Amino acid sequence: MNLLTEIRSLFRPALTAIVPDPAQVPDYLAAIKPTTNPEHGDYQANCAMALSKVVGLKPSQVAQQLVASLPVNDRLETPTIAGPGFINLRFKPEFLAQTLRQIATDPQLGVALVAHPKTFVIDYSSPNVAKPLHVGHLRSTIIGDAITRILRFLGHTVITDNHLGDWGTQFGILLYGYKHFRDDAAFQADPVRELLRLYVHVRHLAQLAEGEEEDAATDNPIMAACREETAKLHAGDPENVTLWKSFMPACMEMLRPIYERLGILPFNYQLGESFYHPMLPGVVEEMLAQKIAFESQGAIVIPNAKGIIPQTPEEQKKEDPPAIIRKRDGAFTYMTSDLATIQYRAEQFRPQAILYVVGAPQALHFKTLFAQARRWGYTDIDFQHIHFGSMLGPDRKMFATRKGGTLELMELLDEAAALSLQKYEAGVTERRAHGHKVYEATDAEKRTIAEVVGVGAVKYADLCQNRTTDYVFDLDKMTATVGNTAAYMQYAYARCCGIFREGHIDPSRFRSQPPAVILAHPAERALALQLLRFPEAVENAAAEYYPHLITVYLWELAKSYSVFFENCPVLKAETPELRESRLLLVDLVARTIQQSLELLGIQVIERM
Ligand code: ARG
Repeated sequence: MNLLTEIRSLFRPALTAIVPDPAQVPDYLAAIKPTTNPEHGDYQANCAMALSKVVGLKPSQVAQQLVASLPVNDRLETPTIAGPGFINLRFKPEFLAQTLRQIATDPQLGVALVAHPKTFVIDYSSPNVAKPLHVGHLRSTIIGDAITRILRFLGHTVITDNHLGDWGTQFGILLYGYKHFRDDAAFQADPVRELLRLYVHVRHLAQLAEGEEEDAATDNPIMAACREETAKLHAGDPENVTLWKSFMPACMEMLRPIYERLGILPFNYQLGESFYHPMLPGVVEEMLAQKIAFESQGAIVIPNAKGIIPQTPEEQKKEDPPAIIRKRDGAFTYMTSDLATIQYRAEQFRPQAILYVVGAPQALHFKTLFAQARRWGYTDIDFQHIHFGSMLGPDRKMFATRKGGTLELMELLDEAAALSLQKYEAGVTERRAHGHKVYEATDAEKRTIAEVVGVGAVKYADLCQNRTTDYVFDLDKMTATVGNTAAYMQYAYARCCGIFREGHIDPSRFRSQPPAVILAHPAERALALQLLRFPEAVENAAAEYYPHLITVYLWELAKSYSVFFENCPVLKAETPELRESRLLLVDLVARTIQQSLELLGIQVIERM
């Protein structure tokens, strides 16, 4: 049960009775929000001010009228009106207590499955294989995986597709490198390593700067030779096609360890660009026939959003470029391939929405793509570019690993794990110094802690930012054990489990036969409210494709839990009833943290 939706549904009839234009009711409902200051109640309805102008009454009168016409219910205390007409809303403790008991028996922790599940296709990770993985693809992988988990948790069908860049210029580099510089024995022994060597070697020979795109180097003789290899591959040259096929397993093998280590859900499909190659001529024919694309200076192009194909240099400076779908030399483009992909996905999966989790620099590409897809007839698919900002280094410039690459990403995770273990051990030492009895973890347990906390730190740091902003990659900050970090949440979880361990209590009975809930202390009530706000957090995160809203929620929950923990003894509670009730709260905190982290693809450990 989503508390906010509950309150809004209580207000709906009251608002419908006053608002002159029924179409406006949702806007006024949207002005009902959680309070920022708990002293004002749990939620606040701020619709009276705007509404007063429309109905010609004072805001306080509107507020009174709204309150008077709220349906009789056993959920809310009598609302109070503050200031010019703010309506403060507070749930009755009995309602909170009763609802908590209900969610205790619910594996979904109160999160309802959507009434009308949708089919989503989500395109994420999508790296250009045969070259080192870029950190941008790391972000896409982490964010896309979290969005998939969140949508599925709500009951949607989510088809994941890793749209591999498996057909680009980088294969020309490999083909050229393989033909001229290969070491057969090395390729036999370790194809991944040998391909990586060849890729780096040819780029070095061609003197391509780090990060420079292969396509950008137009007047470079080595790159020209590489491009020729790519063209031959695309034209179906048997030798190049055979080689390409023999490279692909090694390319996939470069990615596997990263996906595995990050705990990425298995993809439903990994249909790369190569898969769509045979469909591209047909797409161009259709676009021409439907007068969406036109010939211009030997190429086939789609006019820009304004319907213009800029011709003169001045026009080209002023206007958005048109989308080229077939170049003058006959080559197809990224746009052609993405149009074919839409056609295929629409026919194959019949989705209501297609999400592309790709960095912000491709915004123009997707804007054009979606506009053309709609003109092509795909008007009932909701296309979304789930864009994200860059990962920055400590110098606030684009984050780059020294050589950029899977191996280095693995090293980065190694560093995060080592640092997490170091902080864990420092914590243990400190607690011992304070006279606490601390469990001595085995070596195997320490390895698990390092890995789960370290990998969790990297993922959490990425997911806790609003995805649209850039963020600084700071290993020390992300592995911190206090603050809004994975470690802090994982420790809070372990602390909950510790209470049950210490009391030799099996938590399962709190899930099958929940005891009566007593919310006497303000810290208990505040914690109960936070626990009940989980559905709101998940639904908001899904609505905006914003995984960080889950971390915002976790942070609030962890803070409420910490206040509760300091004020409300659990095992030593004053009465057996109170002890049972508090144990239920603790179990719910543990489950909610675990579930929230799982939605972000992050694991927990019971003892650390
Ligand atoms: N491979 C592309 C890149 O690395 C991303 C592909 C995103 N998906 C898509 N359908 N265009 O830039």
